[in-house]
Amino acid sequence: MSTRTVIRGGLVVTASDEIHADVLIEDGRIAALASSGTPAAEAWTAERVIDATGKYVIPGGVDVHTHMELPFGGTSASDTFETGTRAAAWGGTTTIVDFAVQSVGRSLRDGLDAWHAKAEGNCAIDYGFHMIVSDVNQDTLKEMDLLVEEGVTSFKQFMAYPGVFYSDDGQILRAMQRSAENGGLIMMHAENGIAIDVLVEQALARGETDPRYHGEVRKALLEAEATHRAIKLAQVAGAPLYVVHVSAMEAVAELARARDEGLNVFGETCPQYLFLSTDNLAEPDFEGSKYVCSTPLRPREHQAKLWRGLRTNDLQVVSTDHCPFCFVGQKELGRGDFSKIPNGLPGVENRMDLLHQAVVDGHISRRRWIEIACATPARMFGMYPKKGTIAPGADADVVIYDPHAEQIVSAETHHMNVDYSAYEGKRLTGRVETVLSRGELVITEREYTGHAGHGAYTPRSTCQYLN
Ligand code: URP
Ligand code: ZN
Ligand code: ZN
Ligand code: ZN
Repeated sequence: MSTRTVIRGGLVVTASDEIHADVLIEDGRIAALASSGTPAAEAWTAERVIDATGKYVIPGGVDVHTHMELPFGGTSASDTFETGTRAAAWGGTTTIVDFAVQSVGRSLRDGLDAWHAKAEGNCAIDYGFHMIVSDVNQDTLKEMDLLVEEGVTSFKQFMAYPGVFYSDDGQILRAMQRSAENGGLIMMHAENGIAIDVLVEQALARGETDPRYHGEVRKALLEAEATHRAIKLAQVAGAPLYVVHVSAMEAVAELARARDEGLNVFGETCPQYLFLSTDNLAEPDFEGSKYVCSTPLRPREHQAKLWRGLRTNDLQVVSTDHCPFCFVGQKELGRGDFSKIPNGLPGVENRMDLLHQAVVDGHISRRRWIEIACATPARMFGMYPKKGTIAPGADADVVIYDPHAEQIVSAETHHMNVDYSAYEGKRLTGRVETVLSRGELVITEREYTGHAGHGAYTPRSTCQYLN
């Protein structure tokens, strides 16, 4: 049963090292690394030899923010666990952490069971779950302890979307107090949803119905205010905090200030905030709807501050918040009323490539690319060093990456189940060539060789990234 694979001649890039090394894989794990051309490496024999000369050998991407099949805004995200994880593999991602949802009035367990049922037997790559907590009560708080013990160690709360996922400050504080005790990590959607709903109502009353008004009412200041409030609540609770999908430079400043004070406060941003802007939201003929997500895209000047935050480690993770809705029939639900456009962008397939482009463009170093896309997300969410690195004992989740290949991003060629690309026509340098998940070939020289059901549920330990 045991298949040995050797990857020869590539540049192995991890968050900490860049070395010309051969990689030996045995029983689905990294068995050893040895400098290429040395007697130790030459002595390895294997059933399968992959030539990575001139390529990078990197850990599979870890995308800790996806929403496959999420019911939202009267419809459901268009990627299933099957199509979405296959697309992730095409883009060099070998682990996702998706969000199971607690419905109001139901238990966390019900929600988690429902998400397990959607994913089990369908995934091409490994997956774990966070839990969206929509209903904080005494039972929910007790259930959080049980979930942490069984490997669901992070909980998302929303300061936005009143009437749907929203928690008030008291509910947030209680959940944070609980996580301070049980080791869980609260992930916060930080936008002042109560104030935003007022601005939405006023905008619609003025006849401002186009997609671009989505960006105008969801103000950067209301992201910053909520971020600040979440930080203070976490400080009062003595709990760590991870702020998801940070898009406003004012929110980055809040995180930086808290971190300067030594607080365990962390921030994630997403490729859409680094590469897209309110210019996209303003595209005519309702095309702007393709770019409606929350937090919203911001004016271009925010991008430099996000890149800087990624360099200075005030932001630690880039994940996708992959939540695709087709333009036809789904985004179109909001024609004539931007507040009815389902929120979310596709991107699970594009993240590793876009961040490699950021290396080419000089925004981040090669090792930082791996750190923010693989190693830190794995550490932050209790999967390291099984995931997120190439080291003896780690799962053999490995990508052979061609740093010189040129590609043009397009919905015509992508593998996500969505009828547009948010990056249509974008030229990128670098492309995934081959992907292994636990030693098994999922993508082989740009052919899909994986299968639904290969991906295994990954229980997680608690956050390994605290100060
Ligand atoms: O617009 C977004 N981000 N949709 C997904 C749900 C969320 O808030 O992450
Ligand atoms: Zn969110
Ligand atoms: Zn999300
Ligand atoms: Zn398999």
